[in-house]
Amino acid sequence: MFTKKTPTIGLDIGSSHIKGVQLKSVGKGRELLKFDIQPIKSGLIENGVIVDKKSLTDYLHEFFRKANFIKNKAVIGLSGQHSLFIKRITVPLMTEDELRLSIKYEAQQHIPLDLDALALDFHIIGKVPHSDNEMEVLLVAVKKDLLQDYVEVVQNVGLEVVIVDINLFALSNMFEFNYGVPEERNVALVDVGANITSLCVIQRGLPIFWREIPTGSNYHTEALERTFNLTREDAERLKRGHPIEGFNMEEAKSVMLKASDEIYAEIYRSLEVFRSNFYNEDVSKIFLSGGASLIKDFATMLSHRIDIIVEVIDPFKKVLIPQKLIPQYIKEIAPIASIAVGLALREIEV
Ligand SMILES: Nc1ncnc2c1ncn2[C@@H]1O[C@H](COP(=O)(O)OP(=O)(O)OP(=O)(O)O)[C@@H](O)[C@H]1O
Ligand SMILES: [Mg+2]
Repeated sequence: MFTKKTPTIGLDIGSSHIKGVQLKSVGKGRELLKFDIQPIKSGLIENGVIVDKKSLTDYLHEFFRKANFIKNKAVIGLSGQHSLFIKRITVPLMTEDELRLSIKYEAQQHIPLDLDALALDFHIIGKVPHSDNEMEVLLVAVKKDLLQDYVEVVQNVGLEVVIVDINLFALSNMFEFNYGVPEERNVALVDVGANITSLCVIQRGLPIFWREIPTGSNYHTEALERTFNLTREDAERLKRGHPIEGFNMEEAKSVMLKASDEIYAEIYRSLEVFRSNFYNEDVSKIFLSGGASLIKDFATMLSHRIDIIVEVIDPFKKVLIPQKLIPQYIKEIAPIASIAVGLALREIEV
């Protein structure tokens, strides 16, 4: 049968920037068709929840008006500790179809919430070691109204939503595609956005621990605004290292470092929780992504503070970027595209 891959758009709607990635399959590899990023006004999304659908729709319209995507199908991702429930559970050995029929029953044993308000999904991890009749499953539950809001804003701009993923899984999907299974036993993927830091510990290719921390690079922006009485726009410029007239860069740097320290402390705390939950395990390396990783020295200082090797992720490591898309520019801001790349990799066959 003749099949063709649809270049779905991986659409990462963050609280500060919309990111879109479209990939083309070339044999087993991928080529970048399009990447775009545009800022949105702050306050439209809080803790992963859309608080102003109308304005967000307007920004999405603007995003697609300016960026020249082949508009058709989209894969979107969700994040936010309050609306997502992810748990690794053990169930009797069964087929995927059987599990689909019984997932609500299984979920009842693990989720202390009204299941009618939740959309359920799962991912079979594999057989429980040393057991003939049990398997491990990643159970995912999302508030239906949150999911519906995201689908609605994307449909409003004329796109069909084909998959709703979880940003953390998109991140690990992107990582596996580009980096395979790392030689270290446990590595952590850490995406520091504007409002949310997503952290996921991967053990031999499988996610075993995750956290969504309500912390991000807005700490930097807000600290600069507060300390120097700046507008948000000027604080954003300063944060990216663009000098502002009459301004002492050294002072700005120390304010930035203080804000970074608060983020590092949260990452450290989450790793402590991991260590206490998984006796005898530790993380040997962090792969960092998200907008904050573009801040000068952010990754280096993180490594110093928590004494773990930190590498900034390149989500296009195994993606060919054609010359006409200006690879130098894309590589410079690549870490901010990590989740969008993970979403775009979830292409479907038609
Ligand atoms: N060169 C840069 N380009 C864009 N954003 C940058 C840059 N340097 C730092 N940042 C900061 O990174 C953040 C945006 O990162 P990202 O797009 O990953 O967040 P987001 O997905 O919008 O937010 P969240 O996931 O927390 O909702 C902003 O706080 C922004 O100021
Ligand atoms: Mg984000």
